[in-house]
Amino acid sequence: MQIIVTGSRGKLGVGVVAALREAGHRVIEFDARGERGPDSVQIDLTDYGQVADAIAGVEERHSGVDAVVHLAAVPAPGIVPDTALITQNLTMTINVFQAARRAGISRIVHASSETLLGIPMAIDPPYVPLDEAAPTRPEFMYAVGKHLEEELARKLVRWDPALRITGLRFSNVMAEEDYAEFPSWQHDTSVRRWNLFGYIDRRDGGQAVLRALENAAPGYDTFIIAAADTVMERPSVELLDAEFPTVPRSRDIVGRETLLDITRARDVLGYAPQHSWRDYV
Ligand SMILES: NC(=O)c1ccc[n+]([C@@H]2O[C@H](COP(=O)([O-])OP(=O)(O)OC[C@H]3O[C@@H](n4cnc5c(N)ncnc54)[C@H](O)[C@@H]3O)[C@@H](O)[C@H]2O)c1
Repeated sequence: MQIIVTGSRGKLGVGVVAALREAGHRVIEFDARGERGPDSVQIDLTDYGQVADAIAGVEERHSGVDAVVHLAAVPAPGIVPDTALITQNLTMTINVFQAARRAGISRIVHASSETLLGIPMAIDPPYVPLDEAAPTRPEFMYAVGKHLEEELARKLVRWDPALRITGLRFSNVMAEEDYAEFPSWQHDTSVRRWNLFGYIDRRDGGQAVLRALENAAPGYDTFIIAAADTVMERPSVELLDAEFPTVPRSRDIVGRETLLDITRARDVLGYAPQHSWRDYV
């Protein structure tokens, strides 16, 4: 496939681009930053004209795009003022979804986020492991934006039965060099309580995007994408006893398994995370 990846130069984008290229796909990078290259376009995704034009083609570099992976965003709260954050993120997503639809592209994967599950968990989650059946509970503007992007996609697919849009609710993205910090968290269970001790290796993030492009059914669906384990040495049940003692447990929790449930991503998409921080420290 010829695949446009927005936000390709970002932390997650690097892992996604590598996974797609390794699988033999041609990737065209859309990002505001980055060097000049034959498969790379410098673009401001908040400008619909630029997005529509570039998706239709850039010089002789690409035509006949099969899929769009939309990762570009202001990636966390507190980087820019709240209104700028939600305006920029929604504008980019509206522009990318609309330009892709207008160009007849029927496969779209976009980066949603674990944040809409209730992070920073100041209020306990309804149950653990937390899965996609739990109602979204955004607690800040960044997460509200991710919720609204999911809703936008849900509405768009109603108009076009061939359209496949997949929202991947990534946990906290890690590059290999980030694992050096993990041992410093082990003495205190409260340090990583805020996201139920979750993370995702960016290479596994890339695998999740690949599987979504390959296996998503028509319509809209959303999946939690996390590593198979937590960021902690202690068994997951001990973490729950310490930080979430009264939260109902929906099933037996084994060993150090993730408390952000990836069962649906495994069953529906064929996602199978390969990387654990334990192999790198
Ligand atoms: N990093 C995490 O822990 C995390 C967790 C869950 C979800 N996400 C989501 O994953 C996606 C990627 O996050 P990341 O951590 O790689 O972020 P990042 O900031 O490292 O990368 C984002 C990229 O988007 C580009 N970009 C931003 N605004 C742009 C614009 N107007 N025009 C063109 N390019 C623009 C940036 O240049 C950057 O290269 C985002 O949608 C983010 O919300 C990230």
